Amino acid sequence: MGESTEIHFNTYRRFKNISVSEKILNTCFLLAIGIGYLVALANMYYTHQGLDGKAGLSVNDVMINYHGSPDQTRLGAAIKGAMEANLKYKSDKDVILKWIQNNATEEEYNDHIAAILNRDCIGCHSPAVNPSLPNLTHYSGVTEVAHAGGVTLPSLIRVSHIHLFGIAFVLFFIGKIFILCDMNVLVKRVAVIIPFVAMLLDILSWFITKSIPAFAYVVVASGALMGISMGLQILTSISQMWFYSKEKQETVKKYVYLKGTN
Ligand code: HEC
Repeated sequence: MGESTEIHFNTYRRFKNISVSEKILNTCFLLAIGIGYLVALANMYYTHQGLDGKAGLSVNDVMINYHGSPDQTRLGAAIKGAMEANLKYKSDKDVILKWIQNNATEEEYNDHIAAILNRDCIGCHSPAVNPSLPNLTHYSGVTEVAHAGGVTLPSLIRVSHIHLFGIAFVLFFIGKIFILCDMNVLVKRVAVIIPFVAMLLDILSWFITKSIPAFAYVVVASGALMGISMGLQILTSISQMWFYSKEKQETVKKYVYLKGTN
């Protein structure tokens, strides 16, 4: 009986079992990753901020980045610009912009949009009158200028595979260090899983946001969850590595000794 518990105790390493050189190496790695993460946040801020025309980063900017916005379509830009004067009723501008925002579906086109364009636009925008202008007489012609823009599928796939490989590596090594902490095993097991789940959810929701703009909130929430859980692992590891008191380690040692679990 004594033998088996001894084996359990020796199986799992804790920070107190590692050399100072390894602690230094671990700490350098964790600090470099922490700083890298902050720089990644700054990069995200500068590439996404202001897409909605307002300074600063908002969920709206994330929405526009992945889903696009009516302003980025030729139809949206025209209706807010030179072509606005052709509308009989100004309120129809918002009807058209909203339709573009909601993926410019054929059903809604038939219900609301066709009537407006037939009345105000096809006097000039029909192949018979002006072959060089966008053809607004049919749904197929209208969708050509009503695409919501946003990130393209090939570029999403490219960024996703880089993220998956890169971040999986980073999370693995942070986790490898983190499991040397002394803490409740259940908490530890869940804490190790969370950043991976958050990363997958984040990337998955980029693709969904491309079609469903409201998923931008999931992009932001899961991204934040990944950052926070990663940050907590780094901080807990560094503090336990260097500042965990000897007595506390003794008590936990006994606990681990008895439970014989990791
Ligand atoms: C009196 C003729 C006329 C009417 C009516 C008209 N357009 Fe145009 N439209 C033009 C001309 C000419 C151009 C090309 C020159 C330009 O872009 O200003 C154009 C260009 C466009 C473009 C392409 C802009 C681009 O990106 O190149 C769109 C989209 C458009 N119109 C939408 C509309 C809509 C929607 C309506 C109805 C509300 C409308 N137009 C009514 C004459 C017209």
